[in-house]
Amino acid sequence: MKVPFFKPLIDDDVIAEVNDTLTRTTWLTTGPKVRLLEQEIEKLLGIANVLCVNSWTSGAMLALKWYGVGPDDEVIIPAYTYSATALCAMNLGAKVVMVDVKDDFTLDPEKLLENITNKTKAIIPVDIGGWPCDYDAIKSIVQSEEVKGRFVAENEVQTKLGRPLLVSDSAHSIGALYNGKPIAHAPDMTVLSFHSVKNITAGEGGGICLNLPADFDSQELYQELKVLSLNGQTKTAYEKNKVGGWRYDIIYQGLKINMPDICAAIALAQIKKYKEELLPERLKIFDRYNQNLSKYEWAIMQGVEDGGNRSSCHLYLVRIKGITEDQRDQMIQYLSENQVGVNVHYIPMAMLKLFKSMGYKIEDYPKTYELYANQITLPIYNNLTLEQVDHVCVMLDKAYQSLGIS
Ligand SMILES: Cc1ncc(COP(=O)(O)O)c(C=O)c1O
Repeated sequence: MKVPFFKPLIDDDVIAEVNDTLTRTTWLTTGPKVRLLEQEIEKLLGIANVLCVNSWTSGAMLALKWYGVGPDDEVIIPAYTYSATALCAMNLGAKVVMVDVKDDFTLDPEKLLENITNKTKAIIPVDIGGWPCDYDAIKSIVQSEEVKGRFVAENEVQTKLGRPLLVSDSAHSIGALYNGKPIAHAPDMTVLSFHSVKNITAGEGGGICLNLPADFDSQELYQELKVLSLNGQTKTAYEKNKVGGWRYDIIYQGLKINMPDICAAIALAQIKKYKEELLPERLKIFDRYNQNLSKYEWAIMQGVEDGGNRSSCHLYLVRIKGITEDQRDQMIQYLSENQVGVNVHYIPMAMLKLFKSMGYKIEDYPKTYELYANQITLPIYNNLTLEQVDHVCVMLDKAYQSLGIS
């Protein structure tokens, strides 16, 4: 049986929504479908003012740019994440400070305070695999008098907030719950990804969810970020296209990162049935993995629910007890030779050429290395059958047995 690592959901609903864009609205760039998608995200997360953009990376960059993050500033991220979490800050000239993680792959709040300096302008924890970070612990540090005392404000918004901006990397976690609520209620800004492999996809895309303290006007900020995402232009092409709407102004030095309607159409078809259909299907797959793998003493499984927290089941990260990185690689080779697509999320940044050349060393992040070395990501996507899940688990055991560990 062949089990691909990933297959995007392109069903009749997606085709109909894209068709509607091509044949009825005939509007390809940012327009009515993007706004509808923003409203569906707002409904799903129970939050107002979500701005869609063309990727997580550009959305996070926009959030940091709005806060005035630049050269000489520091941005704290976990050592265990995809490189985009770092690059959004590095591309603004800021220095990335990596902090080690805890056993659930998320930023370790106990290591946070010691890394916050008078240059720290933002903190980007990551909901790895769809499992929410410990936002209560992170917030209690970020909002503490000690951290406020260290914070050096350099512009109006920084003065108003008076502390580092908390932006979550929620590229994986749309649909997850934190303290019984959908994500996006804890950080100041939550950035989503609608990249092709994500729970909901637009092909490429991202969303910025606003949740700043009450003295920030979220509606006003949505408008400001929208303009900033459009080269600083006061109107979208769609708005300019309305009768008498041609005149515009450029009021900021913005980015050009708006989401096109043709992309929003794909995500719109998926989000409409996400809560009732697509997410429950993912939960079933996740549970089946946990049920199957609980039979094996070598399997370190992943939690799906704990109190008010629930994963969005974006990635299934299994770990294999007691094996080395080399043995893990041998297992992956065995699985791919037997047509089971697996992956590793992630090769720690401190092991990648760019970051090594900048002086980051994996030895500084021992938990990150420990988790990475024996981690394998198993297939999980809508339309993956339970029969395929069972097969993946049987093959994973065979791959383990092939190591000849007694
Ligand atoms: C944890 C994490 N953060 C950020 C990103 C970047 O998302 P995008 O491709 O939408 O920029 C990804 C994408 O894979 C990711 O996995």
